Amino acid sequence: MALRDGRLKKGLHGAFLRVNQSIDVDRKLYREDLRGSAAYARALRKRGILTADELRLISEGLTSIEAEIEKGTFEFREEDEDIHMNIERRLQELIGDAAHKLHTGRSRNEQVVLDERLYIMDSVETLKERLDTLFRALVEKAKLHLTTIVPSYTHMRQAQAVSLAHLFLAYYHALKRDRDRLVDFEKRLKVLPLGSGAVAGSSIGIDRDFLKKTLGFKSLSRNSIDAISTRDFMIEFQYICVSLFLTLSRMAEDIIIFSSEEFGFYTLPDELSTTSSLMPQKKNPDSLELIRGKTSRIIGNLLAIITLVKGTPYTYNRDFQEDKEGLFDTAESCSDALDLMSEVMRGMGVNEKSVNRALESSKGALFATDVADYLVEKGLPFREAHAVVGSIVRHADENNLKFGDISLDSYKTFSPLFNEDVYDLFDYIRSVNSHDVIGGTALKRVAEEIKRIEEELKK
Ligand code: ARG
Repeated sequence: MALRDGRLKKGLHGAFLRVNQSIDVDRKLYREDLRGSAAYARALRKRGILTADELRLISEGLTSIEAEIEKGTFEFREEDEDIHMNIERRLQELIGDAAHKLHTGRSRNEQVVLDERLYIMDSVETLKERLDTLFRALVEKAKLHLTTIVPSYTHMRQAQAVSLAHLFLAYYHALKRDRDRLVDFEKRLKVLPLGSGAVAGSSIGIDRDFLKKTLGFKSLSRNSIDAISTRDFMIEFQYICVSLFLTLSRMAEDIIIFSSEEFGFYTLPDELSTTSSLMPQKKNPDSLELIRGKTSRIIGNLLAIITLVKGTPYTYNRDFQEDKEGLFDTAESCSDALDLMSEVMRGMGVNEKSVNRALESSKGALFATDVADYLVEKGLPFREAHAVVGSIVRHADENNLKFGDISLDSYKTFSPLFNEDVYDLFDYIRSVNSHDVIGGTALKRVAEEIKRIEEELKK
């Protein structure tokens, strides 16, 4: 007897069948659903609703179902709508009437959010591990390139010389904030919804504390209406993934640009590159383009879930069935992208020659701020120093001179404050080391930061 046969006279219309079902998508939740049911059966036994024999039958039935699904022999049926009903149907086939008792006092409204929370709990663990792997790759590269001095860019124009390690650690910091967000999010995620019933709370006095401990939750939902209505845990999780992807996408963009023929700072490993079907010389950064490209879809998924929730009346609405596809896509893509980016960071080479060529091509303009600081040191207000150095840059440009090639007499025509020691400025290591504050690119500061992060990663 199908679920609907009691209340409804007719079977489902063909046009509705395809739309009604979600088994194509939510079959992914089978493990979570089975875990939830196994725990619930034990709670029913504690409550005296199942006999010891019935509990044994149910537990064994659920284990067989897991094996069938994993072997690929389980028959998923559209007419059973979703993962919950498919498992319920199969359990009944396997063990008979005892299966029907499993649903005493339990609603799919709470079952579906339980499964989703369990799924996300698992994803959070995976993402934290993958992030840690990427962190180690970033720190390794930073250690290798502490003294590799590169131009930094603002507006994609050369700005000031920095340690390349400082850039790698910038990526680390952005991603570390997302890892912290994941950890903080866990206290809102690990709230057990089971025991909420369809809307008003369980009517059979189920032991929620037992369920909480068995399923690895940290606390109990305190309002059954809220517990089955909210999808904020999905929104928050997906926002964190979007934030992660924004950094990955910008890293991808950096690496694509800096590995181009024009820059040549980085070389990409062959195994993460592709070639062209037509142009034999091509080595394309598709791995990074795909990370950048997937970011759009991940942002779309966040917008979809936010829009899905808006305007739904309290409490459960069937609209919510549409909340899973984007979740799975985002969680899986995020972990794949982190994995791929770790490989990129590990395998990427840095071409010191090209980096030095870029420094030289700046003709010393990367020192412009150092020269302004020099004049400030000699007593000139910064705005005036800024204007003086601006004129020197123009002069150097027009006469195709490097800063170091301009004669002292010439410097003195721009300001009488210039002395022989101005030439000491034109050394990139000195320039980098002048940014000697916490958070600055001075080599000893960056080295300290590498050490601090390594300690953090050990924990
Ligand atoms: N497949 C449904 C979903 O994903 C499960 C909950 C169904 N609840 C209901 N009252 N029809 O939302």
